[in-house]
Amino acid sequence: DGEVYKYYSDGEWKKSSSNKSVAIINPTTRKTQYKVQACSQEEVNKVMEIAKAAQKSWAKTPLWKRAELLHKAAAILKEHKAPIAECLVKEIAKPAKDAVTEVVRSGDLVSYCAEEGVRILGEGKFLVSDSFPGNERTKYCLTSKIPLGVVLAIPPFNYPVNLAVSKIAPALIAGNSLVLKPPTQGAVSCLHMVHCFHLAGFPKGLISCVTGKGSEIGDFLTMHPGVNCISFTGGDTGISISKKAGMIPLQMELGGKDACIVLEDADLDLVAANIIKGGFSYSGQRCTAVKVVLVIESVADALVEKVKARVAKLSVGPPEDDSDITPVVSESSANFIEGLVLDAKEKGATFCQPYKREGNLIWPLLLDNVRPDMRIAWEEPFGPVLPVIRISSVEEGIHHCNASNFGLQGCVFTRDINKAILISDAMETGTVQINSAPARGPDHFPFQGIKDSGIGSQGITNSINMMTKVKSTVINLP
Ligand code: G3H
Repeated sequence: DGEVYKYYSDGEWKKSSSNKSVAIINPTTRKTQYKVQACSQEEVNKVMEIAKAAQKSWAKTPLWKRAELLHKAAAILKEHKAPIAECLVKEIAKPAKDAVTEVVRSGDLVSYCAEEGVRILGEGKFLVSDSFPGNERTKYCLTSKIPLGVVLAIPPFNYPVNLAVSKIAPALIAGNSLVLKPPTQGAVSCLHMVHCFHLAGFPKGLISCVTGKGSEIGDFLTMHPGVNCISFTGGDTGISISKKAGMIPLQMELGGKDACIVLEDADLDLVAANIIKGGFSYSGQRCTAVKVVLVIESVADALVEKVKARVAKLSVGPPEDDSDITPVVSESSANFIEGLVLDAKEKGATFCQPYKREGNLIWPLLLDNVRPDMRIAWEEPFGPVLPVIRISSVEEGIHHCNASNFGLQGCVFTRDINKAILISDAMETGTVQINSAPARGPDHFPFQGIKDSGIGSQGITNSINMMTKVKSTVINLP
């Protein structure tokens, strides 16, 4: 009961001098599962100072050695998949198998990053001056990619391990040091993951992990003058971070309202399977979840029937049982989802299942005949509730998709590849998937949102590039 997980600084596990802790509530039991240190601003200052010093010598460590350590960390992470997955089950109610998958995927991501890093950072450019008017060949320019300094990584609750390493590994291979601020739900999983990096033997101070209350250290971290880059994944906090941050590169992945546009020639079984996977996996708590189905009226009845039949087969219960639908992360999240459901009810949506909730557990719900005046047509529930809007033309679907404040991903189902490409071009989102549900992975694919869905592009290669800057040296010949 009394145990409070320590934070990680200067290669050691430490107790905060604040003597305060933050409770992590198990979404299933709604009781305190773990406690972590509530770090103070002075402790953040110390971590920043150490991170800055550690980065200087890390930048001089040969690339192949950096890669070697990352490969080691990846292997240790995979060896620790069972205890880390158990934390994910308890802290964020991720279904047991998905929790293991998250850790394994994270190990793979770290290894891939090490390999990609030695390749892309192992190359520079050589330019000559006489291609620009008025110049002779008297200048040679050599460019290479150098690290930014201290990278601040802030992952969200839904992938506390995977979306942490997707920031940590590119930062480290590129020669940066890393300060991690885990989400409260998911903090212990993050600490355990950091322990794997500790075991791999990275130099002291290169990686730090500070836990605590956003109200105490959130702005303090993101506005800290020692931070040279922020990589954040989460909700609209990212918008305020980007307004307050200094003149540093930012990588932000925020929300999404990913649309699934279904044409009349689509393979409806394929669509239904993807709507279930896309809309309901991890109970809809993914930024890339299918969050609105826009289906051509003529096939809507048939599609809704097929989806309904599959919804009925979803298991609902605790994450330990590997249920498909598990409790959402917090009571406030469940209340928010309920608000969207009640609004849709009041405005006349068709409920394909009765609305049911016990504690944070919300049964999967498909809402048909949703109209644009309902909140659920635009807002992201981050829960197992999916609206269907019937459209009379593809243009209407594209219009709905583009009227959103978000622009993360979208998908289109049709057998006509020419139409699919035209629709993809017309959809104002970072990615469009043809004949599959939206998804971030494979993790080396570029991943980006437009509008309120974020700035910058992720994916292994893009993240490595984003966490470096170009340095050039010009040789002037006599
Ligand atoms: O929640 C946001 C994640 O980046 C989505 O990742 O598509 O692998 O579930 P995913």
